[in-house]
Amino acid sequence: MMKITVTKGALKNLKGDLLVLPLTRKESKKEVEKKLSMFAIAPAALKDFSGKAGESLLLYQNSSKPKTPRVLLLGLGDAAKADDFRKSAETFVRRSGPLKVKKLVLDCSSIPAWSGSSGESASALAEYLVDSAQNASYSFGRLKSGKLDKNKDGEKDGKVLIKELCIRVNAGNLKDVQEGVRRGGIIAEAGNLVRDLVNMPGNLLNAAEISEAAENSARKSGCKVTVFQKEEIEKLGMGGLLAVNKGSKAPPTFTILDYEPVRKPVATVAIIGKGVTFDSGGISLKPANGMDEMKCDMAGGATVIGTLEAAARLELPVRVLGLIPATDNMPGGAAQKPGDVITTYSGITVEVGNTDAEGRLILADALTYAVQEYKPDTVIDLATLTGACIVALGYAVAGMFSNDDALAADLYEAGKQTGDKVWRMPLWEEYDELIKSEVADVHNTGGKGAGAVTAAKFLEKFTEGHTSWAHLDIAGPAFSASKGKKPVSGGTGFGVRLLLGYLRELK
Ligand code: BES
Ligand code: MN
Ligand code: ZN
Repeated sequence: MMKITVTKGALKNLKGDLLVLPLTRKESKKEVEKKLSMFAIAPAALKDFSGKAGESLLLYQNSSKPKTPRVLLLGLGDAAKADDFRKSAETFVRRSGPLKVKKLVLDCSSIPAWSGSSGESASALAEYLVDSAQNASYSFGRLKSGKLDKNKDGEKDGKVLIKELCIRVNAGNLKDVQEGVRRGGIIAEAGNLVRDLVNMPGNLLNAAEISEAAENSARKSGCKVTVFQKEEIEKLGMGGLLAVNKGSKAPPTFTILDYEPVRKPVATVAIIGKGVTFDSGGISLKPANGMDEMKCDMAGGATVIGTLEAAARLELPVRVLGLIPATDNMPGGAAQKPGDVITTYSGITVEVGNTDAEGRLILADALTYAVQEYKPDTVIDLATLTGACIVALGYAVAGMFSNDDALAADLYEAGKQTGDKVWRMPLWEEYDELIKSEVADVHNTGGKGAGAVTAAKFLEKFTEGHTSWAHLDIAGPAFSASKGKKPVSGGTGFGVRLLLGYLRELK
């Protein structure tokens, strides 16, 4: 994470490797020309720059000893929505890499005008910029020893990461912007923690290590944390989690994070995340091609950890519970077999037609446990649950299933606002037919067609009739598999901003 400072010093006196001048599409030519002349830049440059969100134009100052030799014109579009600010922050980070920018000066003197055009407070705008800049400069370097590459100090994969971002504001905005910087930092840190956890391979992150990560996070944020080890999981009778774990050498864990605000909470929300640290498919083994990506199968659990951490550090007025059933899904000699019938924590029996439909088995126990133990107002689960959801919606958007129209609407809005988009899918009773079992109460797969829906219908059976539940299938957006092709590959942190956006609206 880069260091961020806020200053009201005169822009001309600020030193850095790059000065970023954000400009909106509507800004008058005169105003912009005046700004450019301050930095000895010819107005002709504006011919090549429209101010579209995410656009950028790199220029060099034509003076003898410039404090910032390079100036980047940065398009803010109409500075009308959060996305304009997110896009432009990503752009200046992306452009800084090849220029080896270590210190960047960002001119936010126009924040009052952007507040006017967007209807967002100065602190909110600063939060978006900082959060997005930290998110865009994420890199997963912890498993590189550096022994084989000759990169110099501070370089990662040949790029220099920005070390310091200096935000210039007018004196009247200093306090608000500082507050936004603080909040944006908390959210980005939580998002980047999720990405780190998702990127950790199966041999370095097992169920016990997920619990440890939750404990470390809780220590930092002040949450309460409880970890059930295998013995307690057996005593509780969490038959779904135990069945999935049968083929594994590593014991399962069940982690509960609990954030309680100082004052009486406005609501209690339970968030449950799938924590499959590696999904081989079990005896219903997956094909070899792409199986390595299944280290991402604990993304839901990681998102729970990140969300709880940020919710606590932001001191939201909501009680938030985070529950993470964790195990890997392996084909050992003792592994569960297709056709097995298991008894879940709820007492509901399940015919396991396919051991690769394991996420729903561990989530079943967690859903019932959360509802029975905590009687939350709202239950939300997140899981990289089905390939079918990727077929339906692709990689940019999560599938949402809910029995509560108001909750679905709130999550949809939070998705649009934060960029972690969700699209609602049905839970109609027609789909119940598909998961009927001849020998048990329910079957864990639904055959051909509607795979994301039948998975959600299965989960619904374990919610004990709770009337405000949402299931988010994040199989697509949680992980970007394109190795090296896209600017980011691996864990995306999807879901943290969505859930925080939702929680922050609860009043
Ligand atoms: N973890 C997978 C789903 C998945 C697929 C996540 C691709 C991320 C990317 C899940 O456990 C799984 O294997 N689901 C099966 C269900 C089927 C056996 C009913 C699937 O989607 O094929
Ligand atoms: Mn699976
Ligand atoms: Zn899985």
